Amino acid sequence: MRKKVTVVGAGMVGGTTAHRLADKELCDVVVIDIIEGLPQGKGLDLAESAPIEGYDSRVQGTNDYKDTANSDIVIITAGLPRKPGMSRDDLLKKNYDIVKQTTEQVVKYSPNCILIVVSNPLDAMAQTAYKVSGFSKNRVIGMAGVLDSARMSTFIAMELNVSVENVTTFVLGGHGDTMVPLARYSTVAGIPLPDLLPADKIEAIVSRTRKGGAEIVNLLKTGSAFYAPSAAVVEMVEAILKDKKKILPCAAYLEGEYGVQGLFVGVPVKLGARGIEQIIEIKLTAEEQAALKKSADSVKELVGIIGV
Ligand code: LAC
Repeated sequence: MRKKVTVVGAGMVGGTTAHRLADKELCDVVVIDIIEGLPQGKGLDLAESAPIEGYDSRVQGTNDYKDTANSDIVIITAGLPRKPGMSRDDLLKKNYDIVKQTTEQVVKYSPNCILIVVSNPLDAMAQTAYKVSGFSKNRVIGMAGVLDSARMSTFIAMELNVSVENVTTFVLGGHGDTMVPLARYSTVAGIPLPDLLPADKIEAIVSRTRKGGAEIVNLLKTGSAFYAPSAAVVEMVEAILKDKKKILPCAAYLEGEYGVQGLFVGVPVKLGARGIEQIIEIKLTAEEQAALKKSADSVKELVGIIGV
């Protein structure tokens, strides 16, 4: 039997995620939204793509959480996206209410699922889903690091005019302006980035990565990025469904790792059938540790405001 994945939110991120999941024939997909017709329309459109693309994944759109029952993975994309000039944090209170209500419904029908949270502000929303669900910490994962690392990889490949497949990057911390792209652990065909680019070029790439989400918001003007975010989610889903034990940067609930206590922050984790199977701790320099603490402190501030 095919695995079942629910995507909550039939907006651009949710719809594109469903599209990618079906195209890869990874699972059956349920898309749910509160707007009547939107998930049904996108679901049917995707189902009608199947004969052409050649996938047998079933895609269904619904407004009823009953249809999401017994999902293996539920991806929460519901929430308001940013508009130009808004920070991810401006979305805090509105999206807190949405993610809280969503999580309650999800848990009622899929008590054994793994939750992947995509709504912003990412780390605080992952913490909301974790607290509201009562799930064990390995089953609640925030999507951010894969996206932020992909952006950094893109910029490095552009700068060096090399294949993106040669580039491996590493971004720690919250999914916000204080995220910590680690040049030292970023490589091109195994060569550390600092051996390939001068410090000012690296700094420019780090800065562009930090502002990568806002760069897209400012271009689109009517919403935020969705192609790269959905690709990032699907890489995580694939790692879990195929039990790949793949190490990816994700927001995870830390209890002392990296000196962070009781907070979701982006770190390298091993993703497999049980969700987060391991948090990988690497040794940071004093400067990197300070940057990570600053990033964790900004997550802590948001979490304090909504009290989760
Ligand atoms: C971004 C949004 C999805 O980084 O947070 O594009």
